[in-house]
Amino acid sequence: MAAIKTIGVLTSGGDAPGMNAAIRAVTRSAIYNGFKVKGIYRGYKGLVEDEIVDFKAHNVSNIIHHGGTILKTARCKEFMTVEGRRRAYENIQRHGIDALVVIGGDGSLSGARQFASEYDLPIVGLPGTIDNDLSGTDHTIGYDTALNTIMWCVDRIRDTASSHERLFFIEVMGRESGFLALNGAIATGAEAAIIPEISTEVDQLSELIESGFRHSKTSSIVLVAESPITGGAMGLAERVHKEYPQYDVRVTILGHLQRGGSPTAQDRILASRMGAAAIDALLEGQRNIMIGDDDERIVYVPFTKAIRRDKPIDRDLLDLLRRLSI
Ligand code: F6P
Repeated sequence: MAAIKTIGVLTSGGDAPGMNAAIRAVTRSAIYNGFKVKGIYRGYKGLVEDEIVDFKAHNVSNIIHHGGTILKTARCKEFMTVEGRRRAYENIQRHGIDALVVIGGDGSLSGARQFASEYDLPIVGLPGTIDNDLSGTDHTIGYDTALNTIMWCVDRIRDTASSHERLFFIEVMGRESGFLALNGAIATGAEAAIIPEISTEVDQLSELIESGFRHSKTSSIVLVAESPITGGAMGLAERVHKEYPQYDVRVTILGHLQRGGSPTAQDRILASRMGAAAIDALLEGQRNIMIGDDDERIVYVPFTKAIRRDKPIDRDLLDLLRRLSI
């Protein structure tokens, strides 16, 4: 493998608070170690369409506290084709990029894995997604901020829910994983979380209502993970209208507001540590790995493991939620 001189960095897929802190850490740590840096705009789209510029230390000044990503992001269909990836590689060669740092979620790292299997290019991934659904890492960049945003919103909904004595289904993001719903429910003292991971095991809505929930309460908040498997908040509310018409139900879908905002200290620190670790990994000759955190330690996770979509939810947390919502 030729010595690395220039490192490209891009953000891809859904944006996540802390991506800017990660871009900053990658850029500055690379420059600190004597590498040149190229910023690639709009994720893989910018690779395919040649939106690549020199990045110096000052290009990442004053961004650590901002949500979103200064590099912009996209979900790029063309990069899913052989021809798209060929064009991307030509641009990589034209700009003298010898290694790539990809900041994104499951789809972005799947793209990185495919690209790395076709071309001789070291790629290191950083887990950037609010969903926390990548395996091999306890936390993804953006997850903590999104959880705090959910908490802020649900606390406010609770005021009106209790005034009107209503049942609220609040839908949160997670792209078919229940981390935001489950931990959001614990953080807000919600009645329950309805999550896809256990949807095939149990009818969570019937279980909730038939367990006599609300026997000591006049209002209830249930966090629902977005997913066709859970039926989403709207689907559940429709079921309640039909099957349990005695309840006064309302739905709030938090949507994209969960992706915005200034990153929490935890996300800024995680992104800074992971960004620097990506450069360390390249210096050590690592490739095709994602940086993860395991009990506060930085770990290297093969792409194949990271994108397996088998990250288990913590069953003890489900139990805790049940115990605390009596
Ligand atoms: O993966 C991040 C995420 O925010 C998911 O939670 C959500 O399902 C999806 O992206 C929404 O994507 P888009 O911004 O393309 O609507």
